[in-house]
Amino acid sequence: MRRRAFPSISLLAVLCASLAGAAEPEKAKHPAIGNPEAIASGQKLFVTGCAGCHGQNGEGGRGPKLRNRAVWHTLDDEGLFTTIKKGVPGADMPASNLPDDQIWQMAAYVRAMNSPAIEQNVPGNLSAGEGIFWGKGGCGNCHAIRGKGGQSAPDLSNVGALRPVEQIREDVASPDADGYENWRKVVAVTKDGKTIEGALRNRSNYSLQIQDGKGAVRLLSMASLKEVTIEKASPMPQDYKSRLSREEMRDLVAFLARQSIRPVEEKK
Ligand code: HEC
Ligand code: HEC
Repeated sequence: MRRRAFPSISLLAVLCASLAGAAEPEKAKHPAIGNPEAIASGQKLFVTGCAGCHGQNGEGGRGPKLRNRAVWHTLDDEGLFTTIKKGVPGADMPASNLPDDQIWQMAAYVRAMNSPAIEQNVPGNLSAGEGIFWGKGGCGNCHAIRGKGGQSAPDLSNVGALRPVEQIREDVASPDADGYENWRKVVAVTKDGKTIEGALRNRSNYSLQIQDGKGAVRLLSMASLKEVTIEKASPMPQDYKSRLSREEMRDLVAFLARQSIRPVEEKK
């Protein structure tokens, strides 16, 4: 009887794992991948050896952008390792003569710039982070999580499943670093003299979407407008880097990293 209990328990575990879906990282990864210390060492190596071409934070330059590229999910860890070790023959990407463990650290860092935060072990005190989000940080005045909070900024209920942890940290510390225009304050004046204000939700050559304070979005054709003014800076406060201590920032980022609308399995 006891033996028969086992298969159904493991079947249940498999079901739970598949319900958790993307939150469960693939098995048999190199130990450096997803390891916070390896990622930190890889970042230092990256700044010295790679940033000259790929940018300080992988934002690109002479070499391509290496962050926030969904395409990395198709390049497996071995492929990443080989690219960094051997370079790209015929292109401007040199081979590296560093030892393999350091190459793996850089691979771990490059991977960390691209995989969702929820897949990583992000250190920090989650309940302290939650307290900062709704309290001292005032984040909930603008952002909502699971139906609670403000409407004037992106909903963060799924931010951990959507963004790499590096990007979450940067979004909080330097909101303007990515030059992201959406959600900035916009004032549009129509040809017949009406003024419409709100948050920019989308812009093309032909149209503009503006969201008012109640969350309603209006689509305006560019041809109907006389004047459009978009604020240069993000409405998000720019001073969290100095307002929050290192520990507070760590806890807050750890809390955001765990925000996923899918169930999350606890990792050690
Ligand atoms: C001299 C400039 C230069 C340096 C230094 C450099 N790279 Fe590159 N890297 C490039 C270029 C250019 C490419 C694009 C090659 C191609 O055309 O596919 C590239 C491609 C890559 C790719 C593959 C990107 C893709 O789109 O497939 C990775 C990963 C990468 N580099 C990581 C690194 C890392 C890690 C380092 C530091 C050890 C580094 N690179 C150093 C110029 C550089
Ligand atoms: C005054 C309103 C306001 C406050 C307060 C505020 N934010 Fe934001 N935040 C925004 C807006 C608007 C955006 C979108 C535009 C941008 O990226 O700058 C944003 C963007 C973000 C993003 C990126 C979202 C995405 O789509 O990836 C994160 C993460 C974030 N904020 C976290 C925080 C945290 C954490 C706090 C508190 C420490 C905070 N924000 C406080 C308005 C605010």
